[in-house]
Amino acid sequence: MTVVTPQIDVHLGQDDLERELRADVLAGLRSTPKRLPPKWFYDDRGSELFDEITRLPEYYLTRREREILYSEAATLARLTDADTLVELGSGTSEKTLLILDALHGRGSLNRYVPFDVSEATLRCAAQRIAERYPGVAVHAVVGDFSRHLELLPIGGRRIVAFLGSTIGNLYPKERARFLQSLRETMTPNDRLLLGTDLMKDRQRLEAAYNDAAGVTAAFNLNILSVMNQALDANFDPQGFEHVARLDTANDWIEMMLRSREKQTVRLKALEVTATFEDGEEMRTEISTKFRASLAKEELATAGFEIERWWTDSHDDFALSVSRPRSVGSS
Ligand code: AVJ
Repeated sequence: MTVVTPQIDVHLGQDDLERELRADVLAGLRSTPKRLPPKWFYDDRGSELFDEITRLPEYYLTRREREILYSEAATLARLTDADTLVELGSGTSEKTLLILDALHGRGSLNRYVPFDVSEATLRCAAQRIAERYPGVAVHAVVGDFSRHLELLPIGGRRIVAFLGSTIGNLYPKERARFLQSLRETMTPNDRLLLGTDLMKDRQRLEAAYNDAAGVTAAFNLNILSVMNQALDANFDPQGFEHVARLDTANDWIEMMLRSREKQTVRLKALEVTATFEDGEEMRTEISTKFRASLAKEELATAGFEIERWWTDSHDDFALSVSRPRSVGSS
């Protein structure tokens, strides 16, 4: 059989990424408290560390989501009869295989559209999927899901998957905007498959982000190396400590880098010097833990109608299937 060469659309070049990083870091260092957006974790090393996180005993998210997909993929395929899988923030797209296999097994699959900010990761994943499913068109799109949703290929019957609870990295207003824009790109034949991590007790949540092996700490600190390389900065990773804790007022885990002493850091490419006080914390990520009612409400508000709400056997994680609510119905 013939292997069709993947098509790759690049809407986000190296230049755009560098410009965005500069703007994000400048704004983040100037705000109080300081913060950096989590999307900058994922250089090659960061992606590798995240991969390692997904296999940690404490990090239940990936295992639970896979468990749901394992038992429901066939139902999903039957329910949607989709010919296209669009995957937002696809990364190395390992869980994707469960969905692709189910669609392929039904004979309905003819297109896979992975969408990610990392061109290198996408090229690898696109090639691997193209070889595994000869005859399936792989159309990779390099872009940012907060800006390029309208550039995704449309048509047919699509499943738009946003897995791993990555949506939890967005602040409530950003989530509302994201879901709304996504809804606007979807036609009545499309379905949203959304992964959301659920609220649970503090101990388990904090352990998932403070693993004993220290992988999450290394992942968090790696963002400093990313800035050192990209912005010719001199952050000393030894000068910062990894902190992750549950914020019960906001229902999210926040990851911080806490300065171990008063220090100044020079970011040459930005012509900026930043001062950190002893004990000062810079937020690098929020990871929202959803109550089922909140996730359902946010989907409804954005114009989706939930068709399925699946949780794993421990009620740790939820996968939902939603359709765009037709205009006029409520
Ligand atoms: C990939 C964004 C879902 O928030 O749990 C893992 C990233 N951060 N450990 C998450 C992450 C720390 C992860 N997401």
